[in-house]
Amino acid sequence: MAEFRIRKAAESDLDEIIRLWKRNIRTINTASDIAELFYSFENYFFVAVSLASAEHRLIGFVGGAVRQGHGHISGIAVDKEYRRRGVGNGLIKAVEREFSTNAFDTVTLEVRQSNWRAIRFYEKQGYKRSYIVKGYYADGEDALVYTKKKLKSLQ
Ligand SMILES: CC(C)(COP(=O)(O)OP(=O)(O)OC[C@H]1O[C@@H](n2cnc3c(N)ncnc32)[C@H](O)[C@@H]1OP(=O)(O)O)[C@@H](O)C(=O)NCCC(=O)NCCS
Repeated sequence: MAEFRIRKAAESDLDEIIRLWKRNIRTINTASDIAELFYSFENYFFVAVSLASAEHRLIGFVGGAVRQGHGHISGIAVDKEYRRRGVGNGLIKAVEREFSTNAFDTVTLEVRQSNWRAIRFYEKQGYKRSYIVKGYYADGEDALVYTKKKLKSLQ
């Protein structure tokens, strides 16, 4: 039996999404930044729910957005104890399907140069390194921009 299920996020998930975001991603985004993204792009937010407990706890989320005419992944995270079980894969596939349904065929994202786990994950998902943005993060770290094109033909 599956251990988790992916579904569209609802407004009642927002507090948990903020918790997951802040706990798992090195960010200066505040709760209100995250809430603003959520209300602007709710359609592109998905959550992973653990089926192991009766409470159906949220164990991961992905937050997508539309930026300059293409899909963008603003944040994705899975709680530590649930990683390497395909949850991240399920989340990213869900948001990619939503982009594709809405005729966005390209997806971009930024990742910290030092975040090799996420880099491995994105490369496994078919994302290709496009360019570097020097000093992108508030602490001065560079961002690597990754892109996935032609979503439809890949799925
Ligand atoms: C990146 C992240 C979302 C991946 O979630 P996950 O549920 O562990 O990913 P999956 O189990 O679906 O992994 C799919 C594949 O990606 C690759 N991968 C994922 N994590 C990896 C790691 N730590 N090291 C190497 N490869 C990894 C593997 O190929 C993996 O397949 P495998 O387990 O069969 O080898 C998770 O590590 C995370 O929450 N990290 C902290 C938050 C973060 O950095 N987010 C990205 C910046 S916004």
